[in-house]
Amino acid sequence: MTSRIKAVIPAAGLGTRFLPATKAMPKEMLPVVDKPAIQYVVEEAVGAGIDDILVILGRNKNNISNHFDAVPELETNLTNKGDLHRLLRVKESSDLADIHYVRQGEPRGLGHAVLRARAHVGDSTFAVLLGDDLIDERDALLTTMIAANERTGLTVIALMEVDPDHIHMYGAAAVEATDDPDIVRVTGLVEKPPKEDAPSNYAVIGRYVLNANVFDILDRTQPGKGGEIQLTDALQELALTEGVLGVVFRGRRYDTGDRLDYIKAIVQLAADREDLGPDLRPWLKEFAANL
Ligand code: UTP
Repeated sequence: MTSRIKAVIPAAGLGTRFLPATKAMPKEMLPVVDKPAIQYVVEEAVGAGIDDILVILGRNKNNISNHFDAVPELETNLTNKGDLHRLLRVKESSDLADIHYVRQGEPRGLGHAVLRARAHVGDSTFAVLLGDDLIDERDALLTTMIAANERTGLTVIALMEVDPDHIHMYGAAAVEATDDPDIVRVTGLVEKPPKEDAPSNYAVIGRYVLNANVFDILDRTQPGKGGEIQLTDALQELALTEGVLGVVFRGRRYDTGDRLDYIKAIVQLAADREDLGPDLRPWLKEFAANL
């Protein structure tokens, strides 16, 4: 089913946690097994029925747009060699969806990046998927969030319970239960709080279904934590006024902008794959036994 909503993928951050790999390449292009992280995110949006995607680009913008473009000389080369399997894989990334691009001139924060989508999105509800945050395709999240928005008309964010020692790396939500164990009412949000100030261990993760009124709020949101325009601050205003819902995600998620999580993502996804898993799994067991 095709969704009426558009997706926005911010990919203009500096990726400092991954330097020097991200000096000349956005972290969203780091390969996870054999596809860049952002391709998984585009595929997730397409899987949720979205066929119009806007990517917010920073410096090194060509890397990302080139990846989703067709490369005729590569296709001819693979066709001539009769390598149809790889030809299909190469063509897949350029046939995925209608992908548009806009530039964020300066990395002034996630809120500022989302505001750059205003002209493309207009007055409609839209989804935001962070380009370095992978949700395992076997675990539903975005479709549940879109359904909750369609049912209630409210802005919906994704939450995940994390170890309290890690909450300072996320936006943290104060929540109230609803009749649905997977959905909470968000009563407050704070960006990257110290453990002792966190309202809960519910962390905001990189999926949002936002109503277009968030643009007016972002437009007047002042720089917050880290001197950046924070999406969390705009969502806090929405939580205090019209209300925000949180979908609690209990599935597999990988933050590929974090080096340790990136390594775990590759190992876990490769171990589960039919082409690599049968060789990798016994090797991993032996490796782990000798640690
Ligand atoms: P992060 O918080 O991971 O920041 O951004 P970062 O700057 O990219 O990475 P580090 O912390 O320096 O390693 C969350 C998401 O928001 C995007 C990033 O690309 C990422 O998808 N983002 C962040 C922007 O698009 N623009 C910004 O100004 C900031």
